[in-house]
Amino acid sequence: MPKPSITAQRMALHRAVHLIQDQPPFILRDDFALKLSGVTEDSWFGVDKPVHRTPDRIQTRAISVYRARFVEDLVLDAAASGPLQYVILGAGLDSFSLRTPDSANEIEIFEVDHPRMQLWKRQRLDELGLSAPSHTTFVGVDFERHRLSEELPAAGFDNRIPAIFSWLGVTYYLTRPAIEATLRDMLELTDSWVQLVFDYVVPPETLPTDDREWFTLYHQRVADLGEPWHGIFTPTEVATMLTDSGFDDLEDLSAAEINATHFSGRSDELNWPAAVRLMHASRGL
Ligand SMILES: C[S@@+](CC[C@H](N)C(=O)[O-])C[C@H]1O[C@@H](n2cnc3c(N)ncnc32)[C@H](O)[C@@H]1O
Repeated sequence: MPKPSITAQRMALHRAVHLIQDQPPFILRDDFALKLSGVTEDSWFGVDKPVHRTPDRIQTRAISVYRARFVEDLVLDAAASGPLQYVILGAGLDSFSLRTPDSANEIEIFEVDHPRMQLWKRQRLDELGLSAPSHTTFVGVDFERHRLSEELPAAGFDNRIPAIFSWLGVTYYLTRPAIEATLRDMLELTDSWVQLVFDYVVPPETLPTDDREWFTLYHQRVADLGEPWHGIFTPTEVATMLTDSGFDDLEDLSAAEINATHFSGRSDELNWPAAVRLMHASRGL
């Protein structure tokens, strides 16, 4: 069995915990997350365990569900107006294709991930007796070594059809050259409009001291899991990378904006941490 990305398993678990420990209305209903994560009920990390009620894990859970909901709303909206390609970069245990089996006429889905993680996921799907709908294509790509602009067309990506790319929880783990090359590739790949949604982590020294705890805990935690962060950027650096690559419209959402519009008035404690921002960039819209 290949080695999975532990952080991808954890993010799926967070989406599963959302349905057990948070209150409706749910931000995202991912009914496949628990099975895919492979975490069993008797684990110390099981879905109903108190460990998931710490402030930092509540915040990570908010990230796991809101960023997916944000891009999936865009995808479903865009697909209502015509054919669309949805490219899920660093897909991990994303279950969009399993949750939208009837979208074959409108959306071609490409799941792109590190070949090792993707193999693990495909074996996990087999073990669970699940199969990705036929409009899903798996593409193994290591962003540090391979070019998206070569691998996606080889897998059937069509340069005439608009594309939405998601890159959720992935840039944290990449070096700047790999991120810049992938951004350029996204725009080279299509002659039509492109949208991109990704979250990124900002340097802690740019935050008020009270807002640094989530960063400090997770920076250490993921390093201990063997998946250290390499990509930590200020909003200015991210904006420069995007405009230099050719994106012409940027919406860079802060925690304050996300919390005010999507987490206020809830009867649970879900909230988005200040150390993470959500970027929605486009070209040609
Ligand atoms: C924290 S997980 C996020 C997974 C998923 N997007 C989600 O939101 O649940 C990070 C993902 O990035 C992928 N990843 C990390 N480094 C990568 C690389 N160099 N090339 C391709 N994928 C990579 C991992 O395989 C994993 O699926």
